[in-house]
Amino acid sequence: MTASDIAVVLAIESLSFASAWPQNAFVNEIRDNKLAHYFVGRLNGEIVAYGGIWVILEDSHVTTIAVHPDYRGRKFGEEMLVHLLEEAIAARASWITLEVRESNETAQRLYRKYGFTVVSTRRGYYSDNNENALVMWAGNLKGPLYASRLAVLKDTLAREINAGRR
Ligand SMILES: CC(C)(COP(=O)(O)OP(=O)(O)OC[C@H]1O[C@@H](n2cnc3c(N)ncnc32)[C@H](O)[C@@H]1OP(=O)(O)O)[C@@H](O)C(=O)NCCC(=O)NCCS
Repeated sequence: MTASDIAVVLAIESLSFASAWPQNAFVNEIRDNKLAHYFVGRLNGEIVAYGGIWVILEDSHVTTIAVHPDYRGRKFGEEMLVHLLEEAIAARASWITLEVRESNETAQRLYRKYGFTVVSTRRGYYSDNNENALVMWAGNLKGPLYASRLAVLKDTLAREINAGRR
């Protein structure tokens, strides 16, 4: 993600989250935060997805991930999550965490597919509706078991994408 991508990212952000990040949040992340890694996913040159992580030594954190509503269910979100996981692993992270709304079963299902489990609940974490956040975690990212799980999932994903986006 670069500064010139932020306008489109903000449009997707406002269609995706009840409490959207303001422009300066993305600007600060990509310009000032040395721990941050942000990416956009494009289809025919147009941004349809984005996501970000922080990597702090062995610890990594998914800060955001979203797909434009018109492109959901076509594997762009999964492709972005795989990219974030690979980026975290390349940066030598051993585990990865995130917060997700208790009601967001779509995202939770995606995360569980990639080995995340719920480790705790943050009560009233989301101030817009006082909803709880589930804290999810996946570990041993650099171990052989996770590597083989990721390889199998990536292989299936590549075949699904090659067969035509659903
Ligand atoms: C969550 C999100 C990124 C998923 O992206 P997507 O491109 O629609 O999802 P994909 O097509 O890549 O699907 C990947 C997996 O997600 C889950 N998933 C996707 N759509 C789903 C649905 N409608 N119901 C249940 N699970 C779903 C499934 O596990 C799916 O894998 P499968 O096809 O093997 O079942 C997208 O829905 C989104 O942008 N939501 C709004 C923002 C958001 O909630 N972000 C997460 C914040 S924690």
